Amino acid sequence: MGFNTMNLNDITSDQIIRNHTEFERRLAYYKDLGLDQIALRKEFIDLIHFKPARILEVGTGKGILTIFLTKICDSIISVDMDTQEQRIAMLNLMYHQCEQAVTLLCADAGQLGFADKYFDLTVSAISFHHFEEPKKVIDEMARMTARQLIISDFNETGFEIIEKAHRQENRQHFKTGHRFSQISQWLEQKGFSVTASFYECQTVYCAKRNGIEQ
Ligand SMILES: C[S@@+](CC[C@H](N)C(=O)[O-])C[C@H]1O[C@@H](n2cnc3c(N)ncnc32)[C@H](O)[C@@H]1O
Repeated sequence: MGFNTMNLNDITSDQIIRNHTEFERRLAYYKDLGLDQIALRKEFIDLIHFKPARILEVGTGKGILTIFLTKICDSIISVDMDTQEQRIAMLNLMYHQCEQAVTLLCADAGQLGFADKYFDLTVSAISFHHFEEPKKVIDEMARMTARQLIISDFNETGFEIIEKAHRQENRQHFKTGHRFSQISQWLEQKGFSVTASFYECQTVYCAKRNGIEQ
């Protein structure tokens, strides 16, 4: 499938501690502005009401959701195209001593190639606005999902805060501009029943495959 897996041999405990300190600083910075990244992931995890045997995560990022996923499953494949982000995620996982449950793969989620319905749960948190070809990614996630697919992204309030946070640092927040609400229709056409949950800073779609006892 053309994946890269991460080499952990050069990671030191000093790097893990320094990364954690910086990570906590970033989380506090966002929280002061009104965006509690941890609370967003808790809202997401609370929508999972079964014990998945195998999870696929799309968009590892810095691994905030990944850490939560390790509490409910010990076989997680997490995919991202950005090796730098995945390195930070690995340092975060190692800080929490939960890296054994996770395989990080550097790949485009639009063409993964695992077998149909290989994962009983596929998830993606706050990544949709990064996808250049979102339909391709969603179609691929749906194909590999045996039971449930859960996906979140910022709502208007979430985007306003993240954009403010970036402006204050003279940076621009990247967003492709695709409409997140289209997800519902895409997944219904693929044979899922979709429920939307609306929170202060995010929307989460939970899609259950029709004809499967949930
Ligand atoms: C905001 S981050 C994800 C945050 C993460 N889920 C968390 O909870 O910390 C979005 C990630 O999506 C990744 N991404 C964008 N397009 C992708 C694609 N086609 N395949 C895999 N990853 C992708 C980006 O590289 C980025 O790291």
